[in-house]
Amino acid sequence: MLSQKLQDAFNTQINKELYSEYLYLSMAAYCYNLDLDGFANFFIVQTQEEHFHAMKMFNFVTDCNGKVILKPIAGPEVDFKSIIEVFEKTLAHEQFITKSINELMDLAVKESDHASASLLKWFVDEQVEEEATDSKLLSKLKLINGEGHGMLMLDAELATRVFTPPAAA
Ligand code: FEO
Repeated sequence: MLSQKLQDAFNTQINKELYSEYLYLSMAAYCYNLDLDGFANFFIVQTQEEHFHAMKMFNFVTDCNGKVILKPIAGPEVDFKSIIEVFEKTLAHEQFITKSINELMDLAVKESDHASASLLKWFVDEQVEEEATDSKLLSKLKLINGEGHGMLMLDAELATRVFTPPAAA
């Protein structure tokens, strides 16, 4: 049984994960408009990951006999200056999500809710991976200054990304 406070916090986090899905869909549209289909694919796969994150929490709340309360999803940013800016914003957004997950974990620990803490451990680990991926891509983009032949190579590499739901989920 979830406390009211934890239930509220999970519902807020579900909203943030769904907003992340929406934000990355907007970034995918921006990339498609530049004919960078590989970059767009990277963000489409990211939307699938974010949807998975939201559903993982959705299922947890319902499994705990809690009540999922869906809130309005804010409109994402739609105009970006460059691909480099897109990845700067992606990394900043993931750092914001990491902070949010950490606060949720702090609450679970404070309430000695071991089931919530166990679920959140998966998210803590996932955020390390998400930030590392975005940080590496941002570094590579800066190395090639977001232009030229390097961009085409990176675009081809990102076109191969596929969504694989984690087995133990
Ligand atoms: Fe659901 Fe990208 O964190």
